[in-house]
Formats: sequence, C-alpha cells, structure tokens
Amino acid sequence: MPDLEAVSWAAAERFVRLGQTHSPFSVALAGGATPRRLYELLATPPFREQIPWGRVHAFWGDERCVPPDDPGSNYNMARETLLDHVPLPVGNIHRVRGELDPETAARAYAGELCDFFGAPWPTFDLVLLGMGDDGHTAALFPGADALREESRPVVGVSAQYQDRPARRVTLTPPAINAARQVMFLVVGASKAETLRAVLEGPFQPHVLPAQIVQPTDGHLVWLVDGAAGHQIQRRV
Ligand code: 6PG
Repeated sequence: MPDLEAVSWAAAERFVRLGQTHSPFSVALAGGATPRRLYELLATPPFREQIPWGRVHAFWGDERCVPPDDPGSNYNMARETLLDHVPLPVGNIHRVRGELDPETAARAYAGELCDFFGAPWPTFDLVLLGMGDDGHTAALFPGADALREESRPVVGVSAQYQDRPARRVTLTPPAINAARQVMFLVVGASKAETLRAVLEGPFQPHVLPAQIVQPTDGHLVWLVDGAAGHQIQRRV
C-alpha cells in the first residue's frame, strides 16, 4: 500500500466489515501515532454511517499511566479522534484507568474484561496493534517479563520508549492471541528493518515482541505501507 492514507482506508474497511458481522463487536484500540488517521476515518462518512455503534465495545490493547485527559493517554487520543464524534454509548467505552498505578490499573482492567467477556480471558473480535521501531507492540517491550506472562490477561509494566509515558498497562500475549482477528498497522521507513526481521528473520520474540503475536484460532493481518515494507521479500 502506498502510504498511511491507503493503510488507514484498508483498516477502516475491515473494521466496518467486522463491525457489521459481530454483535456485540469488541475491539481493542491501539495507541501511538499510526492509528490516528484510521480513527478519524471511522468518525467520518462513509465509514461512520456503516458502523452499528450501539453494538461496538471499545477497549484498549495498552494504556499509559497518565490521567485520561493527558496528551499521552491512548484513551484521550481515541476520544479526540473518534469517540467524541460517533454515537457510541458511554457504557460501551471500557478504558484502562491510567490515572491509577500500573498494577492497580491492570487489576481493574482485568476485572472489566472478565465482566464483559464472562470469563477470565478476553476473546476480542479485533485487536488493533502498532509496532515500534524496536519491535515492541502494545506495551510488550524487548526483554520484558510480560512476554512470558501466562496466567494474567493484563499486567502493569515500565518501559521508556521515545518521550512517551513509561508506566503502562498492557494485554499479555495469550490475551492478544485469543482474538478472532489481530490487525497490525505499520507505516514509515523507520520500521522497515525491524519489520523485515519480524516477518522474515529468526523467531526471537523476546528481542522482537511483535513476533509473539500469533492468534491461536484467529486471523493475523499486517497492513503495511511501501516505506515500512520495502525490505520484505515475500508478500504479506
Ligand atoms: C502505545 C502503543 C504502541 C504503539 C507503537 C507504535 O501505547 O504507544 O500502543 O505499542 O502502537 O509504539 O507507535 P507508532 O504508531 O506511533 O509508531
């Protein structure tokens, strides 16, 4: 795909199809810069009118431990670009309480997931993810203990990446991999080398956490622009 715009349109089309298929439709949103355009598109015709918003339940794959109105909050970014502009019932917004400390927020969020899914492990219809230049995804960073977590769906972590808030809450690998569909959005030349290593290099998820995303029964979709994908040999 040529650029961010094309990746975002492709993601919006998939979002609409899944949203029309599943009732309720549970989606874990991603943070970072890449999904902003997708969220804007979803809040704009023709996509906005095609989504049965009353059935959509918005969650997050990871959150930074800052208040919900902080510019570093993933909830805040989704609110500004999407949630404030669509008729999504307030009760369908299941944010991570980033104003709490990571462990407390993780426990609270795990409780929220359990209430919604009726089971200790979530089964999202869609998990949206980005990938950092270092291969991290959600808040699963290289070398982190969270990559080995098998007993909890959500954990608190601490990891500095760029100038973003370091204390975070994240879904764990088994929680992500239980999803019906996981969709990565990856854009920009700074991701090219890492993306090639993730998709075509040896399997070393503790070095390249994005590799750990392998849905057990679901679909894995990579939406990649030309700049990020130019080192990949095979088509994805
Ligand atoms: C976050 C994210 C994180 C993000 C990557 C890619 O909270 O920061 O969920 O995993 O997706 O860092 O971010 P960009 O899209 O900005 O490159």
